[in-house]
Parts: sequence; structure tokens; C-alpha cells
Amino acid sequence: MQRQHASITDAAYGQRRSEIGALSAGLTPDDPIPLVEYTDWEHEVWRLVCADLAVRHRVDAAAPYLQAAEELAVPLDHVPQLRDVSARLASMSGFRLQSAAALVPLKEFCGSLANSVFRSTQYLRHPRSPLYSEDPDMLHDLVGHGIALANTRFAHLYRLAGEAAARVQSADALQFIGKVFWFTLECGVVREHGERKAYGATLVSSYGELDHFRSAAFLPLDIESLVDIEYDISTYQPLLFEADSLDQVEDVLGAFWGSCDDESIAALLDRRSRRVGSRH
Ligand SMILES: [Fe+2]
Repeated sequence: MQRQHASITDAAYGQRRSEIGALSAGLTPDDPIPLVEYTDWEHEVWRLVCADLAVRHRVDAAAPYLQAAEELAVPLDHVPQLRDVSARLASMSGFRLQSAAALVPLKEFCGSLANSVFRSTQYLRHPRSPLYSEDPDMLHDLVGHGIALANTRFAHLYRLAGEAAARVQSADALQFIGKVFWFTLECGVVREHGERKAYGATLVSSYGELDHFRSAAFLPLDIESLVDIEYDISTYQPLLFEADSLDQVEDVLGAFWGSCDDESIAALLDRRSRRVGSRH
């Protein structure tokens, strides 16, 4: 049976999300990020999740992420204002945040990345399940992406992903760029001193994912191998891609996102369909 979204099963919660989202409706990138007056339960959810993740990060998160977290210093004891985090981020890596009323379509989301802007939600997950979020909320967006973006090396990769997405026209090419993003900047793992550490935003912002990620199957990070992989973002990832180092992540993603276009991605996908065809 399909699980219903909390904003459907709890009308008051749905209303609160809509209220916060409505603050961003119709804003242009030059408008200031709206201020949100967070409630006690929202501060409590923030505190609970941040306290839990901070402990796990010491064991599970990659060193560049840990360092960025220390430098960005997102408050752990209350929900910060997005505009304050954005100002700090801008001074560190040149990236800034812009509020999103709801989930932003992929092309638009990537277009913003190309301009060093990350679209972040301002609402939080349901208080009944603070350690689980069915879709990206501000905890995912700030603790996952916002912190990574404070590191100039990650920020550069986000920009490259955005530029690649802006370059392509076909839906297949955009979807493949999104898939590469998913398996790296969302769910990427890197080896440090022989141990697997998470750097992807989905992993580092989720208690459950951090609990599960080491039991996934791992493949070495390689763009061609990604072609054959199907994935479901609504469940823990059974297969992840790992790199030997952040240098390698930069090499692989830089080479792909730095030069890919409709033609090169079509050729990549075509090689796959010929491989699949030859198995029959
Ligand atoms: Fe994300």
C-alpha cells in the first residue's frame, strides 16, 4: 500500500507547509529570502535531527563535509533563517540560497545551480517522524546541500552540474545528468583511510541512510556504469558508487559535466541499448 504524504494525513501540517511555501511564491532571484517565524515544534524537530546527525557525522561523514560543517556553523539548537545561512555561504564559496515554494523542476533547479544559486525549501518534515522525511525539506537542503556548498570544491561541482543541464535540450540527456547528480552529490561515498564515508547530501542529512549505507553494494565511480543503473529515490539505496578520493570525484564529474552535451549523452545511452540488445 502506498504511504500517504504527511501533508495529506495531517491537515494542520499541510497548511503550515503551504503557508511557508506561499511566502516564496512569485519572488524573483533578486528579492530577499522571506523571514519565517518558526514555531516551537519546528525548532524542536531541528534540534532533535541536528543533535542526532552531529554524532553520526563524526563517524560516517567525509572529512571535507565535516570541515565545511564546522566553518559554515549552521546553528544546531534552532531553525536558522535561510537568508543568514545564505549570506555566510556566499562569503565562503560564492554560492547563495534562494527559497523555493515547493519542489523545483529539474531544469529550473539546475539552471539556478549554473548561476551559483541553490533553491532551498524553508519548511520542515512532520514532527511525528523527525528522523524521516518523505521529500526534501529544509533540513535536507541545509544540512545536506548547504553544508557541502560551503566547500569550494563541492560548490564547483554543483555549478558544473548546473551548466551541463543548461547546455542540453533533450529530456533523456537532462535525466542522465540528474542521475549522475543523484549517485554523486546526493548519494556519493568516498574512501578515506580505507573506510567508506558519505559526502552526498541525501546520505549526510538522513539518520536512516547513514544507518544503512554501508550495507549497500558498491561500484567504483564511473559514468559508463551509471548508464545501466535504475534507482528509486523513495527507498534506501541498495547500490552506491564510491570514489577513492575527492580528487577522483572531481576528475570523473569534471570530465563528464564539463563537456557533456546532447550528442555525447545520446551516444552513451545508445551504447547501453546496444549492449542490452546483444544480450537477447
Ligand atoms: Fe537533495
